[in-house]
Amino acid sequence: MAEKHVLERIEEAASYIASRSSIRPEIGLILGSGLGVLADSLEEAVTVNYSDIPHFPVSTVEGHAGELLLGKIGGRPVLLMKGRFHMYEGYQGETVTFPIRVMKKLGITGLLVTNAAGGVNTSYDPGDLMLISDHLNMTGTNPLIGPNHKELGVRFPDMSEGYSKRLRTIAKEIAAAQGLKLQEGVYAGLLGPSYETPAEIRMLRVLGADAVGMSTVSEVVIARHSGIEVLGISCISNMAAGILDQPLSHEEVMETTDRVKQQFLKFVIQLIPQM
Ligand code: 6GU
Repeated sequence: MAEKHVLERIEEAASYIASRSSIRPEIGLILGSGLGVLADSLEEAVTVNYSDIPHFPVSTVEGHAGELLLGKIGGRPVLLMKGRFHMYEGYQGETVTFPIRVMKKLGITGLLVTNAAGGVNTSYDPGDLMLISDHLNMTGTNPLIGPNHKELGVRFPDMSEGYSKRLRTIAKEIAAAQGLKLQEGVYAGLLGPSYETPAEIRMLRVLGADAVGMSTVSEVVIARHSGIEVLGISCISNMAAGILDQPLSHEEVMETTDRVKQQFLKFVIQLIPQM
């Protein structure tokens, strides 16, 4: 049998998720490596395994659980993805971003994307939170390659405000009120899975990157194509290659996100109802 049309796959996944809870989510949350703890703060939570959702991919990375939760944060109905899909796992851009299409179908209007990222800006410290002001798509591809389905968005979507100014202003106000140090900068999204070389990090700095990671850019392209407003937050989990005289490891990424998760939680829990 031929593969089902993408519109039909989106519809089937959304219907299944909607059948599992009476909550109608308004905000989507994608939690990066080590930041999945937010799931524990959900009110009226219902957990749906990715493997039970028709047409949903299944994630393979350590520290990425592969479940979706419906619930409320400060009374706001949300859909939370604990674990995301990455191109380095071998998925196509369309697969990585399929959940964003499903979120749109479910009625989501705002998306909070988080990730663990390497610090490229030498004034950053591991453990800093960074509001993403913009991104550099360095993946060498684009999730919109292929025929455009006009039901989903326009052929040539505008990316001049990928990361909402309105939402960034709200985030900065909350951070200031909490006395939280919040950096703001440009996220470079690369394919991975090897970390960058010191020469690549120097190149990225010249190009205007403040942080570097292996996720987010494809998701944000699809969110904007879908007309979803985006807020992005990076947790600087380590300094990128060549800045400190030490090798990089996924263990360090997990240790740092674990260390800052309480302030991250306090911040986003206050932020989400105001999105
Ligand atoms: Cl240094 N690079 C990339 N590509 N992803 C990361 C990272 C660095 N640190 C955490 N995630």
